[in-house]
Amino acid sequence: MAPSEALTLVVLGPDDAPDGLALSDAAGWNQTAEDWRFFVRQGRVFGLRAADNGRLVATAAALPYDSGVGQVVGNGVGGGIGWISMVLVAAEWRHQGLASSLMGHCIAHLRALGATPVLDATPAGQPAYAKLGFQAGFALSRWEGTLAHGPSMPTAGAVNAQAIARLDAQANGFDRRTLLTDFLQRPGTRARVAADGNGFVLARQGRRATQLGPLVAGDEASALSLLQAAFAELSGPVFLDVPERWTVLTAWLAQHGFARQRSFARMALGPAPIASVHDRLFVVAGPEFG
Ligand SMILES: CC(C)(COP(=O)(O)OP(=O)(O)OC[C@H]1O[C@@H](n2cnc3c(N)ncnc32)[C@H](O)[C@@H]1OP(=O)(O)O)[C@@H](O)C(=O)NCCC(=O)NCCS
Repeated sequence: MAPSEALTLVVLGPDDAPDGLALSDAAGWNQTAEDWRFFVRQGRVFGLRAADNGRLVATAAALPYDSGVGQVVGNGVGGGIGWISMVLVAAEWRHQGLASSLMGHCIAHLRALGATPVLDATPAGQPAYAKLGFQAGFALSRWEGTLAHGPSMPTAGAVNAQAIARLDAQANGFDRRTLLTDFLQRPGTRARVAADGNGFVLARQGRRATQLGPLVAGDEASALSLLQAAFAELSGPVFLDVPERWTVLTAWLAQHGFARQRSFARMALGPAPIASVHDRLFVVAGPEFG
């Protein structure tokens, strides 16, 4: 039977988060049910369900972001951007064009909203995305390590979400206020604001490890101070996604027992602020969120 007959295209709703989580867990990814709920609520998650038993066998998510907090920030891109992620296909359904088909739905959806599609691609995914017309911007790597027990990093309670969102938008060139507010409201999220008020770092619970990021700072020395402060207060496995440009940070990570797990290229299908890393963005929120 052709895949088109055996599968039904669906848009995931809030009750579908556990099915999405089953797919990301099977791939060994770090996203939680809260992440899936965020994608479903704020973006559009396309899925394919087996017609016979209803099993979710493939997903792809499109998440639009505005151009800036209350204004277009820096990059001059008008219509905003949209993140594409959570491209997952169950092992027995691969190599039949399902991921490409769902990517097509994500691209069409974002373009209808006037948003430029952006994603963080693994080396294996890059040729597939290049074929669709995506162009590569800056490179980043996921670093992975385990921290010894330290005192707990402060919870996010007292943090000013608006101030953080403004710093994040200045660093990124797009508005992620809703995402950052969601992170801050999660019970496991930790936050630290730089003493000079020019930066911050968040750490949230992932399925396999604490995900550290975003980290925004005025310069790389301040970024390293924030990272060191966060590391002193976290424990257990930690993932963080760092643009290659920040060689002081990556050298410090390597010296402290962290290893590169995989690399990514930020890619865009149209005008987007990805050509070079912005001067104030030191750790991204994750390849699924940018
Ligand atoms: C990568 C993945 C989504 C591809 O799904 P698929 O339905 O088999 O892909 P399609 O048949 O539509 O893709 C066409 C080709 O592009 C490749 N491709 C597409 N997107 C890709 C990606 N993101 N990463 C690696 N390869 C990709 C596919 O491997 C396929 O080539 P092949 O059939 O010669 O192997 C699937 O293998 C998977 O879920 N892997 C684990 C999770 C993952 O790595 N997701 C991508 C994150 S960027």
